[in-house]
Amino acid sequence: MSQSLTFLGIESSCDDTAAAVVRLEGGTPRILSSVVAGQVALHAPYGGVVPEIAARAHAEKLDICVEQALAEAGVTLRALDGVAVTAGPGLIGGVMSGVMCAKGIAAGAGLPLVGVNHLAGHALTPQLSEGLGFPYLLLLVSGGHCQFLTVRGPEEFTRLGGTIDDAPGEAFDKTAKLLGLPQPGGPMVEAEAAMGDPKAVPFPRPLLDRPGCDMSFSGLKTALLRARDAVVAERGGLTRKARADLCAGFQAAVCDVLAEKSRRALAASPEVTAFAVAGGVAANRAIRARLEEVAARAGVRFAAPPLRLCTDNAAMIAWAGIQRFVAGHRDGMDLAARPRWPLDRAAPSMLGSGKKGAKA
Ligand code: KG4
Ligand code: ZN
Repeated sequence: MSQSLTFLGIESSCDDTAAAVVRLEGGTPRILSSVVAGQVALHAPYGGVVPEIAARAHAEKLDICVEQALAEAGVTLRALDGVAVTAGPGLIGGVMSGVMCAKGIAAGAGLPLVGVNHLAGHALTPQLSEGLGFPYLLLLVSGGHCQFLTVRGPEEFTRLGGTIDDAPGEAFDKTAKLLGLPQPGGPMVEAEAAMGDPKAVPFPRPLLDRPGCDMSFSGLKTALLRARDAVVAERGGLTRKARADLCAGFQAAVCDVLAEKSRRALAASPEVTAFAVAGGVAANRAIRARLEEVAARAGVRFAAPPLRLCTDNAAMIAWAGIQRFVAGHRDGMDLAARPRWPLDRAAPSMLGSGKKGAKA
């Protein structure tokens, strides 16, 4: 990749409206700008992402984010070599908003259009931020996703397993809600857990008794609800200490499940020399430390991109788009928005819908 390529990336598949400019020069990618407009406050009164509100907010914010990304990068549309946009999977109204915006810019400025899989964006991030070479094992762990992927190339992914129900971030958020803590729940539960005893309340370790890398987190939420009700019935309310203990027990169970399944995924991938994590839950220090330990035991490098690149952003979409473009991929004005788009077409598809849209 010796040519210089500058791409605009657009992301709107969930509750973050994002635009970014990434330049590939001398074989090295550089993020010239990355703008993210979150929607947490808009969805807060409803306790979860409302797809129609998300789509409308994306439509309102996309052009503003694009203008800001171009200005911060110090480039005009004329300096671009293409436009990359998340074309799925995700909440369909939001994905459509982004795809329509990207089509308008591409058609108006006469630029090539490249549709990108959102999960490929996450999966290729460790390359963008850490310069990680192929192949590597990736654990994508966020509010909407949870899966192990062997990343062999920009378009070559093998899914080793993933959640069969909730994503861990979703479970953290529900835990916070059940304990009266504000959203997003992950950081709140982590802070409480640091003050609690992880052994005070027993939590199950779902699916550890079964072989393979699939995971389940919805049972932890039920276990938490029962344990909370038992404490309230016994003591007439939830004390600070009891809440911290519940958070610590829940987090310890998530840690154990992710660590053991990561160990198995690494054992099943002798060809990889690195283990990378991405997604909002990778911000959790207890989880990160356990995964780092698993990587060290397996004798592979551990790579965790900075948080702003772990969570949803458009720099990862621009980077995935550049790689698709280099591979010769172009999309036309018939590019469709897709609610589902599995990265590994050979893997069995996941059924159902998560809080943040259809499961990939
Ligand atoms: O990747 P992300 O920004 O959005 C998607 O889900 O795509 O991840 C957000 C999720 C939320 O569920 C949030 O509660 C969780 O990541 N999260 C955490 C922590 N920080 C964010 N979960 C556990 N511990 C944290 N420190
Ligand atoms: Zn995401």
